[in-house]
Amino acid sequence: MFRVTRRYRFSASHRLHAPELDDAQNQRLYGKCNHPFGHGHNYVLDVSARGPLDPATGRAADPEALDALVGRHVLAAFDHRNLNVEIPAFASAVPTSENLALEIGRRLKDNWNTAFPGEWPRLDTVRIAETGKNIFEIRADEIE
Ligand code: NI
Repeated sequence: MFRVTRRYRFSASHRLHAPELDDAQNQRLYGKCNHPFGHGHNYVLDVSARGPLDPATGRAADPEALDALVGRHVLAAFDHRNLNVEIPAFASAVPTSENLALEIGRRLKDNWNTAFPGEWPRLDTVRIAETGKNIFEIRADEIE
């Protein structure tokens, strides 16, 4: 069984602000990411597929099929966007990198069969790096 990971990059802006907390609590919790006018990040997105080696091709996942899926359902929607305003899920959820990984994972899971109609490969993990120091990862079987 192999895990095959492709790396993608996109840039987006956001503001982290939880409506149920007051301004001081938001500032303490989110720091610079609470700045009222938002700010951008250059996100690094790693998507991993898991599957057995196909003896005919010597591969476990077709990277071009994965690229097409991520391009259509993630990058086209997220790159150079304001996450708070342009991604419907973030009308009700704070666009932290955890929620971003969850939303991307949901989109990939929902559309996985269009790229990979067989039993394998399956979506394995979604990993987002917001900065060089912060990495957030969720496994496909943990996504509801
Ligand atoms: Ni931020």
